[in-house]
Amino acid sequence: MNIPQHIAIIMDGNGRWAKQQGKPRNYGHLAGTENVRNIAIKADELGVKVLTLYAFSTENWKRPDDEVGYLMSLPAVFFRKFMKELMEKGVRIATIGNLDAVPEATRKVIEDAKRQTAENKGLTLVFAMNYGGRADIVQAANKAIAQGKTVLTEQDIEENLYTAGYPQIDLMIRTSLDYRLSNFLLWQLSYAELYFTDCYWPDFNEDRLTEAVEWFSNRERRFGGLK
Ligand code: FPP
Repeated sequence: MNIPQHIAIIMDGNGRWAKQQGKPRNYGHLAGTENVRNIAIKADELGVKVLTLYAFSTENWKRPDDEVGYLMSLPAVFFRKFMKELMEKGVRIATIGNLDAVPEATRKVIEDAKRQTAENKGLTLVFAMNYGGRADIVQAANKAIAQGKTVLTEQDIEENLYTAGYPQIDLMIRTSLDYRLSNFLLWQLSYAELYFTDCYWPDFNEDRLTEAVEWFSNRERRFGGLK
């Protein structure tokens, strides 16, 4: 099987999944957080090198305060529950996005996890936190300008994106059947295969991931050229 080196996922549908069972939205976010563990471990087993997850977008601040607060508490929940296992599996934690605007307690938990896993050699698990695709391109351009560039090339942008140094994204998965990118990795998804599934994120289990990877494996990628 042709395994994607880098998979990005829009983990959508936590709210609808909870509603379906008559539970509050945050119950869905908690189930979604536990599912991150399952999918990360499975991705690692499949041989994926980098898994980038859209955990919190620059637009998610518009949600009610209690939901934003709950989402910000999830990294602590996640690492408390799963850090031991992540270490055993050699998972390395990283982030993309602007962590400066994230509450200090959340930022500290994330920075600690990054430090603790920095030498691990298995899957790189990247959380997009306070991330926006447009903001990413703008900050990349500004960094290039600060380096003294006046006329920017694609390479100048590429080298300054939050994702610099990671393999290109081969496969983007969005759960819950909305056909949108929602300001996720706009530059980086240029040549990615896009996979949409009706299942809500908490139900997107290991078999669903394998199905998506099998689908990817059967795609013929031409990158604008001819085969
Ligand atoms: C979209 O579902 C999901 C989110 C905005 C949050 C995703 C975050 C997680 C799954 C947890 C992240 C884990 C860590 C460790 C940071 P939605 O609320 O938009 O669902 P809906 O469209 O059904 O309302």
